[in-house]
Amino acid sequence: AKPRVWISRPTFPDIVARLDPYFEVVAEPREIVFPPAELAAKIRDCDAVIVGLKERVGAAEVAGAARLRIVANLGVGYDNLDLAALTAAGIAASNTAGALDESVADFTWAMLLGAARRMGEAERWLRAGQWQGTRFTDWLGMDVRGRTLGILGMGRIGQAVARRAVGFGMDVIYHNRSRLPQALESECRARWVDKGELLRLSDFLVLALPLTPESRHAIGATELAQMKPTAVLANIARGGIVDDGALADALAQGKLAAAALDVFEGEPVVNPRLLELDNVLLSPHIASASPDARRGMTAMAVDNVLALFGHGPHAGRPPTILNPEVLAAAGSNHPTP
Ligand code: GLV
Ligand code: GLV
Repeated sequence: AKPRVWISRPTFPDIVARLDPYFEVVAEPREIVFPPAELAAKIRDCDAVIVGLKERVGAAEVAGAARLRIVANLGVGYDNLDLAALTAAGIAASNTAGALDESVADFTWAMLLGAARRMGEAERWLRAGQWQGTRFTDWLGMDVRGRTLGILGMGRIGQAVARRAVGFGMDVIYHNRSRLPQALESECRARWVDKGELLRLSDFLVLALPLTPESRHAIGATELAQMKPTAVLANIARGGIVDDGALADALAQGKLAAAALDVFEGEPVVNPRLLELDNVLLSPHIASASPDARRGMTAMAVDNVLALFGHGPHAGRPPTILNPEVLAAAGSNHPTP
C-alpha cells in the first residue's frame, strides 16, 4: 500500500496532486477545528500529515502514530507544533519559511499606512453615511516620511518590511537576539538597537518575531509605557506576543496613538475592548493571504513531504525541515530506499 498523507484543510488541489503518484492522499474537504482526540485519530494511521496553525501537534497527538514520519506545517510560525516532542519521537517537522515573506511584508505596510492614515475609521464613517462634506482640518493622520520604523524580530519577514521602508524615506532600527551580518544590515539600511531603545525611539513598531515561551507578552504594559504616545504598533506575527488587554488600556488612555493587528491572543476571538476602539485597524490573520503566498506555502509543504520520502527535486533533503537531526538518526537506523 502507498504511504498515507492527511491534509487537515482544503488547499490547492492542483498542487496537492503532485503527491498522488506516491501517496494515498486524504484531504479534509472543510475547515474544521479538531478536538485533540479527534486530531490524534486523524493522524494515527498516517505516514505524513500537512497541518495548519489551528492543529496543535505534540506528544499526545503523535503517541499512537507509529508510521508517522513528517508533520509539514502550512505556516512559517510553528508555535502550534511541539518540536521537541516530534524530534524525540523521530518525526520530522517543516514550515514554509520563504514562501510568504513578500506578501506578509506588503500587508504589513498596508496595515501601517492604514493605521497611520486612519483608513478603517474613515471607511466606517463613510459607509455609515456621515460624509456630508469634510472640514479641511479633519481626518489628519500621520506621515511616515522621516519617521523611525522599529522592527522587533529581524527574520526574513522583518527584513522584507525594512527593505520597503527605503521607499517611504524612513529610518530603520531593529532588535533581534542576534545581529544581522553587516552586509544584510546595510542592504536593509537597518541599525541594531537594544529592546529599550527600540521601544523609546520607534514612531512605528512592527512585530515580526516568532511566538515562543520567551516572546510571550514581549509587548506588555511595561513595554507599552516606554513607547512614544504618538507611536503606532503593528502585530503581524502572532497573537500572544502582545498582551492585548494591556494594549487596549494603552490605546484607550492615549499612551499609544494607534495599533494595526492581524493576529490576536485567543483568535478567532478578539478582545472586545479592541473592537470598541477607533484607533485600531483590525484584520483576521490574513497577512499571507495572496495566491502567490498561499500556493507557495502549499507547494512547500508538499515538497517537504515528497523530499522526506525520497521523491522530487529535493529528494532526501526536505527544504525547510526544522529538526534535521531526525534525518541523520533515521539514516543510521533504518535507511530509506
Ligand atoms: C502565518 O501566520 C504563518 O505563520 O505562516
Ligand atoms: C519572522 O521573524 C519569521 O520569519 O518568522
